[in-house]
Amino acid sequence: TIAYLNGEFVPLEQARISPLDRGFLFGDGIYEVIPSYAGKMVGFSQHMARFAKGLAAIEIDYKIDRDEWQTLVQRLIDDNREALGDNIGVYLHVSRGADTRRYHAYPEGVTPTVFGFAFALSAPVKADRHAHPGASVSLAEDLRWERCHIKSTALLGNVMHFQQSVKEGNAETLLYNHQGEITEASSSNVFIIKDGKAFTPPLDNQLLPGITRMLVLECLKIAGIEVSEEVITVGELLSADEVWITSSGKEILPIVKVGDNQIGDGKVGEIWEKVFSVYSEQKFV
Ligand code: PDD
Repeated sequence: TIAYLNGEFVPLEQARISPLDRGFLFGDGIYEVIPSYAGKMVGFSQHMARFAKGLAAIEIDYKIDRDEWQTLVQRLIDDNREALGDNIGVYLHVSRGADTRRYHAYPEGVTPTVFGFAFALSAPVKADRHAHPGASVSLAEDLRWERCHIKSTALLGNVMHFQQSVKEGNAETLLYNHQGEITEASSSNVFIIKDGKAFTPPLDNQLLPGITRMLVLECLKIAGIEVSEEVITVGELLSADEVWITSSGKEILPIVKVGDNQIGDGKVGEIWEKVFSVYSEQKFV
């Protein structure tokens, strides 16, 4: 496949960076993952806005020119469709760059490393609850840092939490803070449905402001379902009628089991079907 590195399109296997890159040594960088289906991107402007915010938060002086990025991302999609198929995720990454001193402070005068590549996403599922078995997830205390709103490339905390779900044969790990409040999952946001109403944790430093989360909030409104951004306790999660997790790669994944607890009647819910069908129509708008 074709990748992008520091101003050039190159075959991915030929892309090379310095081992002194601070993205490699410190996880000192910001990334995005933008989904696309049949050549069309989902939430591009929102992804770019979050990208720019993340870079500003860690003081990497790299200006995101929206139109240039759009051309670049579209080319990564178009030029890789033959190799990867119709469902493509584009990974974009800006790290602080290479510095010989290995000194923790932000160095002066280094050039950020800019990298992008494309990978295959799984095909979107049908908005049919009877055709979807639902997924199971693990549950764990959130042991990451307190800046989870920054989409940092330093993902070891997330990786370790995700690995728990792999060991337990589950699709993801849902996380709660020390007050027993659900924050998000290791690479997804969380929604619950209770008595016909939708809830998702409010945005703060404990979770990533997911683009899919933002789109799903709009779809809930379009579907006429009342939604509230408020604290969800572990108890409320376990007694919910439906649980969903959302991300750029998963879209809206219905969850029917959390740890050993069945959610609702153990089947994918009606509201998921309704909202996911709205999402499937609205996602390119
Ligand atoms: N993960 N929370 C975390 C910790 C995430 O890493 C992600 C995305 C999300 C969902 O955000 P969005 O809807 O913008 O994809 C929430 C990406 C896809 C990843 O790391 O691969």
